[in-house]
Amino acid sequence: MNTLITGGAGYIGSTVSNYLIDRGHQVTIIDNLSTGSIKNVPKKAAFFKIDISDTKKIEKVFYEKKFDVVFHFAAFINNEESIKNPQKYYQNNFVKGKIFFENCMKNKINKFVYSSTAAVYGNKDKKVNEKDQLKPMSAYPKSKLKLENFLKKKRKHISCIILRYFNVAGADQKLRCGFNVNKGYNLILNLCLAGVKNKKFTINGNNYKTKDGTPIRDYIHVEDLAKIHLLTANLIQKKKMFKVFNCGYGHGFSVNQILKKFNSLLKNKIDYKIGKRRNSDIVISIANPNKLIRYTKWRPKFNNLNYILKSSLSWYRKNI
Ligand SMILES: NC(=O)c1ccc[n+]([C@@H]2O[C@H](COP(=O)([O-])OP(=O)(O)OC[C@H]3O[C@@H](n4cnc5c(N)ncnc54)[C@H](O)[C@@H]3O)[C@@H](O)[C@H]2O)c1
Repeated sequence: MNTLITGGAGYIGSTVSNYLIDRGHQVTIIDNLSTGSIKNVPKKAAFFKIDISDTKKIEKVFYEKKFDVVFHFAAFINNEESIKNPQKYYQNNFVKGKIFFENCMKNKINKFVYSSTAAVYGNKDKKVNEKDQLKPMSAYPKSKLKLENFLKKKRKHISCIILRYFNVAGADQKLRCGFNVNKGYNLILNLCLAGVKNKKFTINGNNYKTKDGTPIRDYIHVEDLAKIHLLTANLIQKKKMFKVFNCGYGHGFSVNQILKKFNSLLKNKIDYKIGKRRNSDIVISIANPNKLIRYTKWRPKFNNLNYILKSSLSWYRKNI
């Protein structure tokens, strides 16, 4: 399969790139390196430093190569930042994303796998199904949903799978690529920072309506997610379709449980305090992945919290 990957210098796009290359597929990456790193880009991938909205430069790439499937990862992903600067997210994730897909369609490229987020569901108190009501709580998931809706309107002309990722964690098994260790905006990275660099850790609120008062999330290992990308790309190549799949294991862990498990991997325990609740934090986010499993026969390999945290910690230690 000949694939085009936007955002392939980022965390998930680079892991998927390596996963595909390991299995004999061809990978071309376009990324403007705004948050990604050239170090993440696999040596065997063709790389172009281009913005997804740069129609002319991307068309040149289209003339050179014929792509079977496009994976669209490129986006800004910092929820907190999106609350302060919603326009930045609307512009990069929706406006530029739309320009990119229109350019693909104009050039008769119409098989897409789009990276969306579980944050489009907003707050729910049970496992979510793809048909549940969508209530994004901030500009980041709103921008991702707007692009989902754009693709939905084009469904007659494209074959497309939208993947709503839950909380992605861990790193490539060979530690060739992974998350940005300098941008502390998720729980696991903050734990790595606290555990390795002795920074104080903050639990943002412990009075939520959950079993121990802290929010609950469904953590999926990035390599299991990479496998989902290959399986879904195979599907859209075989048959024209438009589907939305949740990507998670179907069970969640609270912030307290994660902290406890993480501490068991460290010599010195993490020093922590209880901070204020953050307005845009979702209380419970757990996938019902049955639809994904029914269509793709996906079987996760790394559904193990200990492994997921160890893998994240190893990547962090290697890159600081
Ligand atoms: N990390 C998660 O837990 C998570 C969860 C849900 C959904 N997602 C989605 O997965 C995708 C990838 O996320 P990630 O964690 O790998 O993020 P990342 O920041 O590591 O990677 C994003 C990549 O896109 C590139 N990029 C951004 N804007 C661009 C533009 N205009 N033109 C070209 N390149 C651009 C960046 O340089 C970066 O390399 C995103 O679409 C995100 O919304 C991620």
